[in-house]
Amino acid sequence: MANEQLMGKIVSLAKRRGFVYQGSEIYGGLAGTWDYGPFGHELRSNIERLWWKRFVSDRDDMYGISSSIIMPEPVWQASGHLQGFTDPMTECEKCKRRFRVDLLEDRVTCPECGGKLGTEKTFNLLFPIEMGSAVGGTVTAYLRGEVAQGMFVNFKNIIDSFHPKLPFGIAQIGKAFRNEINPRDFLFRVREFDLMEFEYFIRENEWETQFEYWRGEMWKWIDEIGLSRDHVHELEVSAEDRAHYSKRTIDFEYDFPFGRKELYGLAYRTDYDLKKHTEASGVDLTYRDESTGETFIPHVIEPTFGAGRTVFAVLYEHYREDELGGEKRAYLALPPVLAPVKVAVFPLLKNKPELVKKAREVYQAVRKEIPQTAWDDNGNIGKRYRRQDEIGTPACVTIDFDTLEDDAVTVRDRDTGAQERISIGELTAYLKRTIVNEALL
Ligand code: GAP
Repeated sequence: MANEQLMGKIVSLAKRRGFVYQGSEIYGGLAGTWDYGPFGHELRSNIERLWWKRFVSDRDDMYGISSSIIMPEPVWQASGHLQGFTDPMTECEKCKRRFRVDLLEDRVTCPECGGKLGTEKTFNLLFPIEMGSAVGGTVTAYLRGEVAQGMFVNFKNIIDSFHPKLPFGIAQIGKAFRNEINPRDFLFRVREFDLMEFEYFIRENEWETQFEYWRGEMWKWIDEIGLSRDHVHELEVSAEDRAHYSKRTIDFEYDFPFGRKELYGLAYRTDYDLKKHTEASGVDLTYRDESTGETFIPHVIEPTFGAGRTVFAVLYEHYREDELGGEKRAYLALPPVLAPVKVAVFPLLKNKPELVKKAREVYQAVRKEIPQTAWDDNGNIGKRYRRQDEIGTPACVTIDFDTLEDDAVTVRDRDTGAQERISIGELTAYLKRTIVNEALL
């Protein structure tokens, strides 16, 4: 199947099944914004929870925070984003549409209307906002263009409250905003997105070892979310393409349907940010080694993970089509830990009160131990299987007339369609052991 065709199928499945909708769709949509529906929200939350567990709560050297989205102008002045966070832009003299120059094949003619493109300008991606209500008394602040600055401005707070020893990290998951000139490719290039990121503070002389360590940890994460290593490629970013703060960057690129593009990044930010904030704020952001008395500004390794791009890559990676029982079907072979619904429970027929009653009992018992368990009684059983397959539910449990006699249910496996009869007394343990496995967070 051609990649564009597959992309169309994934975008359509995402909408049809309640994963992702165009932002403000009933008003014609707002470019570069997407809304997550119930299953998209669960999928993204599962990704974020798994990330948080792996990189923050399972470790002793990470401090998780949640900082403000709105940050004042001096932060962005000091960080260099007011000057350097730009893309090259050109505007069509005829239709006035704007384009990112580096993404154009022809830099002379407008790809939309054939008009003449104007001269190249730099376009800053930060979203300014006017804060305060007094006329003439507002101040300019910015929606954060990266979550990293939230970690840098809280460096001293973490030091003062927790007295951590180097190396240690400050992590957060949260929104970032970029006024992208040409948002496109579904969740890939948007104007509002979620980032999972940490700044790992180190001594300068250990930067290469730490860089290698985090490079390996990023690959383990890629394995955990089920992306094939064959579809992810490291790119050593050249000095001219690196962000202004970085001395070394590796991009982890993924084979998206529209080509190989950045999924994650790993950067050595040196002591650039803490130094700049020390100079600009006048607040001392040095670290003091309690045992030697030595003071210095730590250096930083920064692994960064776009949550939206992860959702996209995960949907694309796990989308499958096959034939089951003589019928064509599409399904998401999601790792159970990511599946928005782990188990779906249904009565064979919804107009038989004795089946519904029994099925409700089973449903309540299972969901007590497996939280992302769903009830489904819409349409006939074939339709329910198709729907659950399309959202990637690993197991479906059906309560039928035999259940009323033998207290056993049918458990169907998403990937193979294989069905097994399991007694209700053993059901939850069976599901946890065989299908849902380690999938509970
Ligand atoms: N603090 C470093 C930083 O923000 P970045 O490479 O500019 O680095 C980090 O962005 C990650 O954010 C990228 O690796 C990508 O996953 C994601 N990302 C960047 N721009 C995006 C956009 N316009 N839409 C969706 N995700 C984006």
